[in-house]
Amino acid sequence: MNLNIRFSDVSVRFGERVALHPFSLTLEERRIGIIGLNGSGKTTFAKLINGLVKPTNGNVTVNGLDTKDDAKAVLALAGFIFQNPQHQLIMPVVREDLAFGLKQRGIKGDDLDMRIKTILERFGIENLANRRVHELSGGELQLAAIASVAVTGPEILIFDEPVNQLDIRNRKRVVEAILGLEESAVVISHDLGLLANFDRVLVFDQGRIVFDGAPASAIAHYEAVATC
Ligand SMILES: Nc1ncnc2c1ncn2[C@@H]1O[C@H](COP(=O)(O)OP(=O)(O)O)[C@@H](O)[C@H]1O
Ligand SMILES: [Mg+2]
Repeated sequence: MNLNIRFSDVSVRFGERVALHPFSLTLEERRIGIIGLNGSGKTTFAKLINGLVKPTNGNVTVNGLDTKDDAKAVLALAGFIFQNPQHQLIMPVVREDLAFGLKQRGIKGDDLDMRIKTILERFGIENLANRRVHELSGGELQLAAIASVAVTGPEILIFDEPVNQLDIRNRKRVVEAILGLEESAVVISHDLGLLANFDRVLVFDQGRIVFDGAPASAIAHYEAVATC
């Protein structure tokens, strides 16, 4: 099934603060980028997709499933990789963390071992299987976090600034992993190079989507917003 994320008259408030002004939007592309200044609503928008944030008004559906009414099914469909992957990996050893999400879904034995092996190979991190999470470098941590979400089989992966703090070599590894995903991806990034070949890029400013279109135009628009 094709990706279909639909926002209908959605707005988000935190108390008195408006994080996102009302908007309606449908996303069907495989690679969607999000850019905008700090505090412009990017993370709130991304969290709406898998129900980590619920709309104050309106509704959000992912492949027809409502993030309020079908919360569990939406979480299985759309995985979120947090800005700080340390918050993602909850078990002390990488392999245990990968196993944790699978066990929660009732997967065990040979099936569990096979899925872990497959995901480690897919991201080229077999060497991290028995490493302690708190000893990993930034890039290793990010790859382990991606694997930990992908292993449970979501169709959409949502990334919140995945390459922000990485050096050039680790950035390259993580960018390659993201660009090579078979899943759909929604990626918040200030790394405009990462988004250069995306299908569609949204620019946020002060809780509003101020541009929606091709990457080159989006980047030009963002730079204009950022410097005014
Ligand atoms: N849980 C929250 N409680 C209160 N305010 C929040 C919360 N999350 C975000 N905000 C506010 O909503 C606005 C948008 O935040 P956010 O979506 O994190 O922006 P971005 O990711 O673009 O930096 C900001 O003004 C922020 O302070
Ligand atoms: Mg953010």
